[in-house]
Amino acid sequence: MKNNFVDIYNWKKQDLEKIFEKTAELKQNPFQKHLKNKTMSMIFEKPSTRTRVSFETGMTQLGGHAQFLGPEHMQLGRGETIEDTAKVLSRYVDVIMARLFEHQEMLDLAKSAEIPVVNGLTDWLHPCQALTDLYTVKENKGLDVTLTYVGDGNNVCHSLMQICSKLNVPMKVGCPEDYEPDQEILDRVKTTEVMHSPEKAVKNADVVYTDVWTSMGKEKEARKRKKVFPPFQVNQSLLKHANNDAIVMHGLPAHRGLEITSEVMDGEQSVVFDQAENRMHCQKALLLELLS
Ligand code: CP
Ligand code: NVA
Repeated sequence: MKNNFVDIYNWKKQDLEKIFEKTAELKQNPFQKHLKNKTMSMIFEKPSTRTRVSFETGMTQLGGHAQFLGPEHMQLGRGETIEDTAKVLSRYVDVIMARLFEHQEMLDLAKSAEIPVVNGLTDWLHPCQALTDLYTVKENKGLDVTLTYVGDGNNVCHSLMQICSKLNVPMKVGCPEDYEPDQEILDRVKTTEVMHSPEKAVKNADVVYTDVWTSMGKEKEARKRKKVFPPFQVNQSLLKHANNDAIVMHGLPAHRGLEITSEVMDGEQSVVFDQAENRMHCQKALLLELLS
């Protein structure tokens, strides 16, 4: 049966660990041509820098090919259904990666496709980011750590909650009231502690993680969010509450001066650009797992 990477909830700890092992190997030896003659379609309903470039370059390094399908170039943008798109692409290519608004649309795509589907972000989840994030934590500090996410209970936060739970990493979320993670995710991941004091949330953290205050698709709320979120900015004064050797993470793109200061983002504790690089290594390992 084909496998998808749509929701970390459906993945086993041992399979995630297997991807981490392969990632380390690919980082040492990047040009392994295991996907010669394989093609990946990449559907993007939203913009992307890292996801697009890391997947496309990763496919090239593995000997395969990736094709970019933006909404304005596809019949999807003119009303063809996601199900029909999935069925047609399954006749041509070997794997689909998609970045979509609605998570339900991702589930419909995965159900109708006869080939593996990778979730490159929906409004609800961002599993490729979380996979890379925990690999990056492991690389820097091992997994016997506590992680605090400071910000909006969004797609990145949801996937982090799920992977931390799978890998037994205690996680706290520090967010303003009314910006908590989705109840369905909280019900799935009973171990996450949610609190409304950013200082309490980052206390004793080994990893301090943040993301944009306004995710793609929520632009109409940006002004309101800019008023509510400033106490949750990751700056030097907040970082003092975490462990001295804590690392700072952000999946990027960052809005410097909003959710994170430049001082912290460019500081010694920040691993944000290693994290971005790891997207490519982890996703290559993921593609090998899905297509093997
Ligand atoms: N972190 C991330 O997914 O970045 P892009 O939006 O640039 O792909
Ligand atoms: N939470 C962000 C992540 C961007 C990669 C968003 O959805 O816009």
